[in-house]
Amino acid sequence: MDSRNEPRTGGVPTIVETRRELAELRPHLGTVALVPTMGALHEGHRSLFRLAAEHADTVVASIFVNPLQFGPNEDYERYPRTFDADLEVCAAEGVRAVFAPSTAEMYPAPQVVTVNPGPMGGVLEGEFRPGFFDGVLTVVAKLLNMVRPDTAVFGEKDAQQLALVRRMVRDLALPVRIVGAPTLRDPDGLAVSSRNVYLSPAERTTALALSAALFAARDAADGGGPDRPLAAARTVLREAETADPPLHVDYLTLVDPDTFAEIPGGSAHGGAAILAVAARVGATRLIDNIHLVL
Ligand code: PAF
Repeated sequence: MDSRNEPRTGGVPTIVETRRELAELRPHLGTVALVPTMGALHEGHRSLFRLAAEHADTVVASIFVNPLQFGPNEDYERYPRTFDADLEVCAAEGVRAVFAPSTAEMYPAPQVVTVNPGPMGGVLEGEFRPGFFDGVLTVVAKLLNMVRPDTAVFGEKDAQQLALVRRMVRDLALPVRIVGAPTLRDPDGLAVSSRNVYLSPAERTTALALSAALFAARDAADGGGPDRPLAAARTVLREAETADPPLHVDYLTLVDPDTFAEIPGGSAHGGAAILAVAARVGATRLIDNIHLVL
């Protein structure tokens, strides 16, 4: 075994770049909770690492900017890559090993067989980012097969991703437990995201409309169905559409938390729901969501 891969009891995480190194290290790790990431680690990831530590002997992070989940006009090239700072975050949070494969290691040949997310992957994010969830599920399936964790932790901010990962694990009988971590917010309400670094101060002010709309919906949800919360959220977003810089809303949709089937306004739906929003400000696209009881 490479000396870097000898078991450690704390401090700097072991960096693992290949499947082979990972396979050598894995027997020394006990039970593992994996936190898959694309790097650019922030407070939100720290909260995932802390939750992961409650579920296993060892926390492993993966850092891989997955080209398969970026569309041709998306920000793959400019996605923030901050590996040294990421390692410091991992060390501070007690992450034991970081799996940071190259693209050639993850995709040694063109990926011909991919995971099809089914109808749940074609709505909301899947409609605006065609192929996105095929890319996400394919890389998550590969990471699960390579790391072989007992538990994997995903943020609730990416609610559709979390629901699809849960569904993939169930439908493909993958031997892993999926844990969702609550969304972390800055004091002004903005959901913490790697893409927030792109926002200018004025864009950030406009972007606050996403969380403000969700909170307005939560306050308006009174057990009387979808209409009042939807109307409250729309009012906030409409105002932000005329701000400077303006917000461009891709969708504001109420969905069933398990299936992501839309709960339309005017319906008599009651019970649990997720209100999901996606919007662009300047060149940055942001998503957020909130759990409601209708
Ligand atoms: O949420 C993310 O950062 C990514 O979609 C994931 C799960 C690491 C897959 O690349």
